[in-house]
Amino acid sequence: MSGGAGVPAVAPGAVRVGIHDLAVATGHHVLDLDDLAARNGVDPAKYHVGLGQDAFSVPAADEDIVTMGAAAALPLIERHGTDGIRTVLFATESGVDQSKSAAVVAHGLLGLPSTARAVELKQACYGGTAALVAALGIVARDPRERVLVIASDVARYDLDSAAEPTQGAGAVAFLVAADPDLIEIEPASGLFSADVDDFWRPNDRSTALVDGRLSVSAYVDALLGSWDDLADRGGIAPADIDRWLHHQPFTKMALKAHRAWSKHVGAEFDETELATGFTYNRRTGNSYTASVFLALAALLDLDDDLDGRRLALFSYGSGSVGELLTGIVKPGYRALRRAGQVAGLLDARVPISVDDYRELHAATSTSSEARQNPAVTTGPFRFTGVEAGARRYARTEPTPN
Ligand code: CAA
Repeated sequence: MSGGAGVPAVAPGAVRVGIHDLAVATGHHVLDLDDLAARNGVDPAKYHVGLGQDAFSVPAADEDIVTMGAAAALPLIERHGTDGIRTVLFATESGVDQSKSAAVVAHGLLGLPSTARAVELKQACYGGTAALVAALGIVARDPRERVLVIASDVARYDLDSAAEPTQGAGAVAFLVAADPDLIEIEPASGLFSADVDDFWRPNDRSTALVDGRLSVSAYVDALLGSWDDLADRGGIAPADIDRWLHHQPFTKMALKAHRAWSKHVGAEFDETELATGFTYNRRTGNSYTASVFLALAALLDLDDDLDGRRLALFSYGSGSVGELLTGIVKPGYRALRRAGQVAGLLDARVPISVDDYRELHAATSTSSEARQNPAVTTGPFRFTGVEAGARRYARTEPTPN
């Protein structure tokens, strides 16, 4: 229901700002959760039904958040050029340097103009939404500008931990612009922050620590708190929302949270409503900052009835910050979608055995020791190795069609 129930899409006179285009990338390999279930002696239904996941992406030895993020952004630059891009925001919670931002490296790999700022944002899985909100403000301030937002993560937990089947990898890049072609983001949002130790990654670790049960309840608290804040700010009623998208550390989490929200507001909930937004996440696994935008990509690609519809987009970052945004899908979005491309990307991943995945997992580190990485990825960028403590990257040769 477009701008439903008398709610204006934007305040009178305000600049209309939102997501103009978006693109997706993921890791080179895929691990089938049936194989992990067999290895762990677990009923595969626990993963497919209990967690709502079928597989997860595993980056090759020469891939990381930078290569995936730049790969997601490349088609946007090819389609729209660099005009107006004066800001690159890179959101990640699996950052590879404590000082230099992944945004600067991606900026270089993408050949963006020097007249741009480049910054990394961190607050667990919320960082991509923080970047979106910052970008909206930058464009509202000067509508001639465009902001390139990249959300890219490798979700890593310890081998043999309860969280292991909820790993994954992926990146989504999007251009934020005035008069966007895809989604106009509405000005009001709901916020909820609370200091909780549900999930974190200390500086000396390349895998996250997590209190799984606490993380699930903290996520639900953040959704309900964000909803209440939006409602208190004169926001929308439950019936004004046509589609919901949630951060998906595993897709069952979105179902659990949405059930709690439905009970909270007294709304009916048909669980099949969320299924389209799960399509890509079920196959990539958790992509932290990119996860909710991957859900958005799936919805835009696969739902034929979104013209003028209002989406609710809930972002949760452990630790914790939640934000609930809404946006109106622009008529004509169907002409811009790339379902076949994303499905092709997911299908093209190279299956990896559990033994090889475990070896790769053990070898992955953020060490600054000198090394050269084997050439494995077929993506457009490689993490070639470490020299004098600095990570080195390169553009790969385009693969022939
Ligand atoms: N068939 C069908 N379902 C089965 C089953 C079977 N044979 N066996 C078990 N299940 C079901 C269980 O009933 C359970 O379902 P419900 O939650 O609906 O009851 C589900 O499978 C999971 O079973 P367990 O609770 O026993 O699973 P677990 O304890 O081994 O691990 C987890 C679950 C705690 C979520 C763990 O995977 C984890 O720690 N994951 C990482 C943390 C995480 O993602 N938290 C989410 C919120 S935090 C966040 O969003 C930020 C972020 O990205 C990390």
